[in-house]
Amino acid sequence: MAMVCLSDFEVYAKKYLPKTTWDFFAAGADDGTTRDENILAYKRIRFRPRVLRDVSVMDIRSKLLGTEISFPVGIAPTGFHQLACPDGEKSTARAAKAMNVCYIASTYSTSSLEEISAAAPSSFQWFQLYIHRNRAVSKQLVQQAEALGFQGLVLTADLPYTGKRRDDVHNGFRLPPHMSLKNLEGAFEVCKMMSLDPSVTWNDIHWLQSLTHLPIIVKGILTKADAELAVRHGVQGIIVSNHGGRQLDGGPATIDALVEVVEAVQGRVEVYLDGGIRKGSDVLKALALGAKCVFIGRPALWGLAYKGEEGLQDVLRILRDEFRLSMALTGKHFAGYFQL
Ligand code: FNR
Repeated sequence: MAMVCLSDFEVYAKKYLPKTTWDFFAAGADDGTTRDENILAYKRIRFRPRVLRDVSVMDIRSKLLGTEISFPVGIAPTGFHQLACPDGEKSTARAAKAMNVCYIASTYSTSSLEEISAAAPSSFQWFQLYIHRNRAVSKQLVQQAEALGFQGLVLTADLPYTGKRRDDVHNGFRLPPHMSLKNLEGAFEVCKMMSLDPSVTWNDIHWLQSLTHLPIIVKGILTKADAELAVRHGVQGIIVSNHGGRQLDGGPATIDALVEVVEAVQGRVEVYLDGGIRKGSDVLKALALGAKCVFIGRPALWGLAYKGEEGLQDVLRILRDEFRLSMALTGKHFAGYFQL
Protein backbone atom coordinates (compact mmCIF):
# COMPACT_ATOMS: atom_id res chain seq x y z
CA MET A 1 0.00 0.00 0.00
CA ALA A 2 1.28 3.48 -0.85
CA MET A 3 1.79 5.55 2.30
CA VAL A 4 0.09 8.85 1.60
CA CYS A 5 -0.55 10.45 4.97
CA LEU A 6 0.36 9.85 8.61
CA SER A 7 -2.88 7.94 9.27
CA ASP A 8 -1.65 5.25 6.88
CA PHE A 9 1.31 4.65 9.21
CA GLU A 10 -1.04 4.55 12.18
CA VAL A 11 -3.18 1.88 10.49
CA TYR A 12 -0.04 -0.13 9.66
CA ALA A 13 1.33 0.13 13.20
CA LYS A 14 -1.96 -0.92 14.74
CA LYS A 15 -2.15 -3.92 12.45
CA TYR A 16 1.41 -5.19 12.84
CA LEU A 17 2.62 -4.22 16.32
CA PRO A 18 1.91 -6.55 19.23
CA LYS A 19 -1.25 -5.38 20.98
CA THR A 20 0.51 -4.44 24.24
CA THR A 21 2.97 -2.26 22.31
CA TRP A 22 0.24 -0.60 20.25
CA ASP A 23 -1.75 0.06 23.41
CA PHE A 24 1.31 1.56 25.14
CA PHE A 25 2.01 3.92 22.24
CA ALA A 26 -1.63 4.91 21.83
CA ALA A 27 -2.47 5.29 25.50
CA GLY A 28 -3.95 8.44 26.96
CA ALA A 29 -4.66 8.94 30.66
CA ASP A 30 -8.06 7.95 32.08
CA ASP A 31 -10.77 8.50 29.43
CA GLY A 32 -8.28 9.76 26.84
CA THR A 33 -10.21 13.04 26.50
CA THR A 34 -7.18 15.30 26.35
CA ARG A 35 -5.34 12.95 24.01
CA ASP A 36 -8.27 13.04 21.56
CA GLU A 37 -8.82 16.76 22.05
CA ASN A 38 -5.24 17.44 20.92
CA ILE A 39 -6.30 16.23 17.48
CA LEU A 40 -9.88 17.51 17.37
CA ALA A 41 -8.85 21.05 18.27
CA TYR A 42 -6.96 21.42 14.96
CA LYS A 43 -10.12 20.61 13.06
CA ARG A 44 -11.87 23.63 14.58
CA ILE A 45 -9.23 26.10 13.34
CA ARG A 46 -9.72 27.64 9.90
CA PHE A 47 -7.27 29.45 7.65
CA ARG A 48 -7.89 32.80 6.00
CA PRO A 49 -6.16 32.03 2.72
CA ARG A 50 -4.63 34.69 0.49
CA VAL A 51 -4.21 34.25 -3.27
CA LEU A 52 -2.05 35.53 -6.14
CA ARG A 53 1.05 35.82 -3.98
CA ASP A 54 3.72 34.00 -6.08
CA VAL A 55 4.32 30.83 -4.14
CA SER A 56 6.62 29.36 -6.79
CA VAL A 57 9.62 29.41 -4.44
CA MET A 58 9.25 28.76 -0.73
CA ASP A 59 11.91 28.56 1.92
CA ILE A 60 10.70 26.37 4.79
CA ARG A 61 13.96 26.21 6.69
CA SER A 62 13.97 27.53 10.22
CA LYS A 63 16.22 27.76 13.29
CA LEU A 64 15.92 26.35 16.80
CA LEU A 65 17.99 28.36 19.26
CA GLY A 66 20.25 29.33 16.37
CA THR A 67 20.64 25.89 14.77
CA GLU A 68 19.22 25.49 11.29
CA ILE A 69 16.60 22.83 10.56
CA SER A 70 15.21 21.90 7.16
CA PHE A 71 11.60 22.53 8.22
CA PRO A 72 9.94 23.32 11.54
CA VAL A 73 9.13 19.78 12.75
CA GLY A 74 11.19 17.70 15.16
CA ILE A 75 10.99 14.37 16.99
CA ALA A 76 9.46 14.61 20.49
CA PRO A 77 11.03 12.47 23.20
CA THR A 78 9.35 9.08 23.50
CA GLY A 79 10.66 6.04 25.34
CA PHE A 80 11.34 2.47 24.24
CA HIS A 81 11.95 2.77 20.50
CA GLN A 82 13.10 -0.84 20.32
CA LEU A 83 9.48 -1.77 20.78
CA ALA A 84 8.87 -0.18 17.37
CA CYS A 85 11.96 -1.43 15.45
CA PRO A 86 15.06 -3.49 16.23
CA ASP A 87 17.58 -0.63 16.06
CA GLY A 88 15.37 1.56 18.23
CA GLU A 89 16.66 5.06 18.90
CA LYS A 90 19.64 4.55 16.59
CA SER A 91 17.21 4.42 13.67
CA THR A 92 15.47 7.51 14.99
CA ALA A 93 18.74 9.39 15.23
CA ARG A 94 19.74 8.44 11.67
CA ALA A 95 16.36 9.44 10.23
CA ALA A 96 16.42 12.80 12.02
CA LYS A 97 19.93 13.44 10.74
CA ALA A 98 19.00 12.51 7.17
CA MET A 99 16.06 14.92 7.28
CA ASN A 100 18.01 17.59 9.18
CA VAL A 101 15.54 17.99 12.02
CA CYS A 102 15.98 18.05 15.79
CA TYR A 103 15.68 14.76 17.69
CA ILE A 104 14.95 14.93 21.41
CA ALA A 105 16.23 11.68 22.91
CA SER A 106 14.31 10.43 25.96
CA THR A 107 15.79 9.49 29.33
CA TYR A 108 13.82 6.26 28.80
CA SER A 109 15.62 5.23 25.63
CA THR A 110 16.42 1.63 24.87
CA SER A 111 19.74 2.81 23.40
CA SER A 112 22.30 4.68 25.47
CA LEU A 113 23.14 8.34 24.89
CA GLU A 114 26.51 7.23 23.50
CA GLU A 115 24.83 4.91 21.01
CA ILE A 116 22.36 7.59 19.94
CA SER A 117 25.10 10.13 19.49
CA ALA A 118 27.36 7.70 17.61
CA ALA A 119 24.52 6.60 15.30
CA ALA A 120 24.24 10.12 13.89
CA PRO A 121 27.43 12.09 14.56
CA SER A 122 27.28 15.89 14.28
CA SER A 123 23.51 15.90 14.07
CA PHE A 124 21.03 18.10 15.93
CA GLN A 125 20.08 16.33 19.15
CA TRP A 126 18.64 17.46 22.46
CA PHE A 127 18.45 15.30 25.58
CA GLN A 128 15.19 14.99 27.53
CA LEU A 129 15.57 14.63 31.26
CA TYR A 130 13.33 13.20 33.93
CA ILE A 131 14.79 14.14 37.29
CA HIS A 132 15.24 11.07 39.47
CA ARG A 133 15.27 10.78 43.23
CA ASN A 134 18.89 9.81 42.97
CA ARG A 135 20.13 13.20 41.85
CA ALA A 136 23.61 11.88 41.16
CA VAL A 137 22.16 9.82 38.30
CA SER A 138 20.45 12.84 36.73
CA LYS A 139 23.57 14.95 37.17
CA GLN A 140 25.68 12.34 35.47
CA LEU A 141 23.23 12.05 32.55
CA VAL A 142 23.11 15.81 32.00
CA GLN A 143 26.88 16.07 32.00
CA GLN A 144 27.25 13.06 29.77
CA ALA A 145 24.77 14.53 27.28
CA GLU A 146 26.73 17.79 27.17
CA ALA A 147 30.04 15.96 26.75
CA LEU A 148 28.62 13.89 23.90
CA GLY A 149 27.56 17.01 22.01
CA PHE A 150 23.82 17.12 22.67
CA GLN A 151 22.86 20.76 22.12
CA GLY A 152 19.96 21.27 24.50
CA LEU A 153 18.49 19.93 27.71
CA VAL A 154 14.72 19.39 27.74
CA LEU A 155 13.29 19.12 31.24
CA THR A 156 9.94 17.34 31.24
CA ALA A 157 7.86 19.03 33.92
CA ASP A 158 4.51 17.25 33.72
CA LEU A 159 5.40 13.83 35.09
CA PRO A 160 5.84 13.91 38.87
CA TYR A 161 3.99 10.60 38.72
CA THR A 162 3.00 8.55 35.69
CA GLY A 163 -0.58 9.15 34.51
CA LYS A 164 -3.10 6.33 34.77
CA ARG A 165 -3.18 4.60 31.39
CA ARG A 166 -5.84 1.95 31.70
CA ASP A 167 -4.77 -0.31 28.84
CA ASP A 168 -1.24 -0.54 30.23
CA VAL A 169 -2.67 -1.59 33.58
CA HIS A 170 -4.99 -4.16 31.94
CA ASN A 171 -2.12 -5.52 29.84
CA GLY A 172 0.39 -5.51 32.70
CA PHE A 173 2.67 -3.60 30.32
CA ARG A 174 6.39 -3.88 30.94
CA LEU A 175 9.52 -3.76 28.85
CA PRO A 176 10.43 -7.20 27.41
CA PRO A 177 13.40 -8.77 29.23
CA HIS A 178 15.81 -8.36 26.28
CA MET A 179 15.36 -4.56 26.32
CA SER A 180 16.51 -2.17 28.97
CA LEU A 181 16.57 1.51 29.85
CA LYS A 182 20.15 1.88 28.73
CA ASN A 183 20.70 5.31 30.29
CA LEU A 184 19.73 4.05 33.72
CA GLU A 185 21.46 0.70 33.67
CA GLY A 186 22.99 -0.05 37.02
CA ALA A 187 21.46 3.05 38.54
CA PHE A 188 18.75 1.40 40.55
CA GLU A 189 18.23 -2.10 41.75
CA VAL A 190 14.46 -2.04 42.00
CA CYS A 191 12.01 -0.35 39.66
CA LYS A 192 13.52 2.48 37.64
CA MET A 193 10.20 4.00 36.68
CA MET A 194 9.21 4.45 40.31
CA SER A 195 12.32 6.47 40.96
CA LEU A 196 11.17 9.79 39.52
CA ASP A 197 11.37 12.65 41.96
CA PRO A 198 7.91 14.16 42.57
CA SER A 199 9.40 16.93 44.72
CA VAL A 200 10.95 18.77 41.75
CA THR A 201 10.20 22.54 41.67
CA TRP A 202 11.22 25.61 39.70
CA ASN A 203 14.28 25.90 41.96
CA ASP A 204 15.65 22.80 40.29
CA ILE A 205 16.09 24.80 37.10
CA HIS A 206 18.86 26.64 38.97
CA TRP A 207 20.32 23.29 39.98
CA LEU A 208 20.38 22.22 36.32
CA GLN A 209 21.93 25.54 35.30
CA SER A 210 24.71 24.89 37.82
CA LEU A 211 25.43 21.54 36.14
CA THR A 212 25.50 22.49 32.48
CA HIS A 213 26.00 25.25 29.94
CA LEU A 214 23.37 23.71 27.69
CA PRO A 215 20.26 25.76 26.96
CA ILE A 216 17.31 24.50 29.00
CA ILE A 217 13.90 23.95 27.45
CA VAL A 218 10.94 23.18 29.75
CA LYS A 219 8.41 20.73 28.34
CA GLY A 220 4.86 20.52 29.64
CA ILE A 221 3.81 24.17 30.02
CA LEU A 222 0.10 24.92 29.43
CA THR A 223 -0.60 28.20 31.22
CA LYS A 224 0.42 31.84 31.19
CA ALA A 225 1.46 31.63 34.87
CA ASP A 226 3.90 28.78 34.27
CA ALA A 227 5.20 30.38 31.08
CA GLU A 228 6.03 33.50 33.11
CA LEU A 229 7.81 31.39 35.72
CA ALA A 230 9.79 29.58 33.06
CA VAL A 231 11.02 32.88 31.61
CA ARG A 232 11.79 34.23 35.06
CA HIS A 233 13.90 31.16 35.84
CA GLY A 234 16.04 31.77 32.79
CA VAL A 235 15.09 28.92 30.46
CA GLN A 236 15.73 29.34 26.75
CA GLY A 237 12.66 27.55 25.43
CA ILE A 238 9.22 26.23 26.29
CA ILE A 239 7.43 23.24 24.80
CA VAL A 240 3.68 23.62 25.14
CA SER A 241 2.77 20.00 25.79
CA ASN A 242 0.36 17.80 27.71
CA HIS A 243 2.48 14.70 27.14
CA GLY A 244 0.20 13.57 24.32
CA GLY A 245 -2.70 13.41 26.81
CA ARG A 246 -0.92 10.67 28.78
CA GLN A 247 -0.69 12.56 32.07
CA LEU A 248 -3.54 14.79 33.27
CA ASP A 249 -6.81 13.96 31.55
CA GLY A 250 -9.04 17.04 31.36
CA GLY A 251 -6.43 19.66 30.52
CA PRO A 252 -6.54 21.71 27.33
CA ALA A 253 -5.50 20.70 23.84
CA THR A 254 -2.01 22.04 23.29
CA ILE A 255 -3.00 24.11 20.25
CA ASP A 256 -5.61 25.83 22.44
CA ALA A 257 -3.06 26.54 25.20
CA LEU A 258 -0.46 27.87 22.76
CA VAL A 259 -1.84 31.39 22.31
CA GLU A 260 -1.86 32.15 26.03
CA VAL A 261 1.74 30.97 26.39
CA VAL A 262 2.95 32.90 23.35
CA GLU A 263 1.28 36.06 24.64
CA ALA A 264 2.83 35.66 28.09
CA VAL A 265 6.31 35.06 26.74
CA GLN A 266 6.32 38.00 24.28
CA GLY A 267 9.27 36.72 22.31
CA ARG A 268 11.61 36.47 25.30
CA VAL A 269 12.14 32.72 24.75
CA GLU A 270 11.30 30.38 21.90
CA VAL A 271 7.96 28.55 22.14
CA TYR A 272 7.42 25.13 20.60
CA LEU A 273 4.46 22.73 20.73
CA ASP A 274 3.73 19.03 20.60
CA GLY A 275 0.55 16.96 20.67
CA GLY A 276 -1.83 15.98 17.89
CA ILE A 277 0.27 17.03 14.90
CA ARG A 278 -0.89 14.70 12.14
CA LYS A 279 -0.82 16.84 8.98
CA GLY A 280 1.23 19.59 7.39
CA SER A 281 -1.68 21.96 7.86
CA ASP A 282 -1.55 21.28 11.64
CA VAL A 283 2.09 22.41 11.57
CA LEU A 284 1.12 25.59 9.77
CA LYS A 285 -1.70 26.31 12.23
CA ALA A 286 0.68 25.95 15.17
CA LEU A 287 3.24 28.22 13.51
CA ALA A 288 0.59 30.77 12.61
CA LEU A 289 -0.44 30.86 16.28
CA GLY A 290 3.11 31.54 17.40
CA ALA A 291 5.04 28.26 17.73
CA LYS A 292 8.56 28.33 16.34
CA CYS A 293 8.55 24.59 15.70
CA VAL A 294 6.43 21.54 16.49
CA PHE A 295 7.40 18.02 17.54
CA ILE A 296 5.78 14.66 16.76
CA GLY A 297 5.53 11.79 19.24
CA ARG A 298 3.34 8.89 18.12
CA PRO A 299 3.67 9.46 14.35
CA ALA A 300 7.44 8.97 14.68
CA LEU A 301 6.82 5.63 16.41
CA TRP A 302 4.45 4.57 13.63
CA GLY A 303 7.13 5.41 11.06
CA LEU A 304 9.68 3.31 12.95
CA ALA A 305 7.17 0.47 13.19
CA TYR A 306 6.62 0.63 9.43
CA LYS A 307 10.24 0.50 8.23
CA GLY A 308 12.65 1.70 10.90
CA GLU A 309 14.83 4.60 9.85
CA GLU A 310 13.36 4.66 6.35
CA GLY A 311 9.79 4.64 7.68
CA LEU A 312 10.47 7.59 9.96
CA GLN A 313 12.02 9.47 7.05
CA ASP A 314 8.85 8.76 5.06
CA VAL A 315 6.73 10.23 7.87
CA LEU A 316 8.89 13.35 8.03
CA ARG A 317 8.95 13.75 4.25
CA ILE A 318 5.16 13.53 4.04
CA LEU A 319 4.74 16.11 6.80
CA ARG A 320 7.29 18.38 5.12
CA ASP A 321 5.58 18.17 1.74
CA GLU A 322 2.12 18.70 3.24
CA PHE A 323 3.43 21.67 5.19
CA ARG A 324 4.91 23.23 2.08
CA LEU A 325 1.67 22.65 0.18
CA SER A 326 -0.41 24.23 2.96
CA MET A 327 1.87 27.24 2.94
CA ALA A 328 1.44 27.61 -0.80
CA LEU A 329 -2.33 27.18 -0.68
CA THR A 330 -2.71 29.74 2.09
CA GLY A 331 -0.53 32.13 0.11
CA LYS A 332 2.15 32.42 2.73
CA HIS A 333 5.84 32.75 2.32
CA PHE A 334 7.57 31.42 5.41
CA ALA A 335 8.52 34.86 6.67
CA GLY A 336 4.98 36.08 6.10
CA TYR A 337 2.84 33.44 7.74
CA PHE A 338 2.20 35.53 10.84
CA GLN A 339 -0.05 37.75 8.75
CA LEU A 340 -2.92 35.24 8.82
C1 FNR B 1 5.76 9.98 25.25
N1 FNR B 1 6.11 11.25 25.72
C2 FNR B 1 7.28 11.40 26.45
N2 FNR B 1 7.68 12.63 26.85
C3 FNR B 1 8.84 12.80 27.52
O1 FNR B 1 9.18 13.93 27.86
N3 FNR B 1 9.63 11.71 27.77
C4 FNR B 1 9.31 10.44 27.42
O2 FNR B 1 10.05 9.50 27.65
C5 FNR B 1 8.07 10.27 26.76
N4 FNR B 1 7.67 9.01 26.38
C6 FNR B 1 6.54 8.86 25.60
C7 FNR B 1 6.21 7.59 25.12
C8 FNR B 1 5.12 7.45 24.27
C9 FNR B 1 4.78 6.08 23.75
C10 FNR B 1 4.35 8.57 23.90
C11 FNR B 1 3.19 8.45 22.95
C12 FNR B 1 4.67 9.82 24.39
C13 FNR B 1 5.35 12.46 25.31
C14 FNR B 1 5.87 13.01 23.99
O3 FNR B 1 7.12 13.63 24.16
C15 FNR B 1 4.94 14.06 23.39
O4 FNR B 1 4.65 15.04 24.35
C16 FNR B 1 3.64 13.50 22.82
O5 FNR B 1 3.81 12.22 22.29
C17 FNR B 1 3.11 14.43 21.74
O6 FNR B 1 1.87 14.01 21.27
P1 FNR B 1 1.65 13.15 19.92
O7 FNR B 1 2.54 13.75 18.84
O8 FNR B 1 2.00 11.75 20.25
O9 FNR B 1 0.20 13.35 19.65
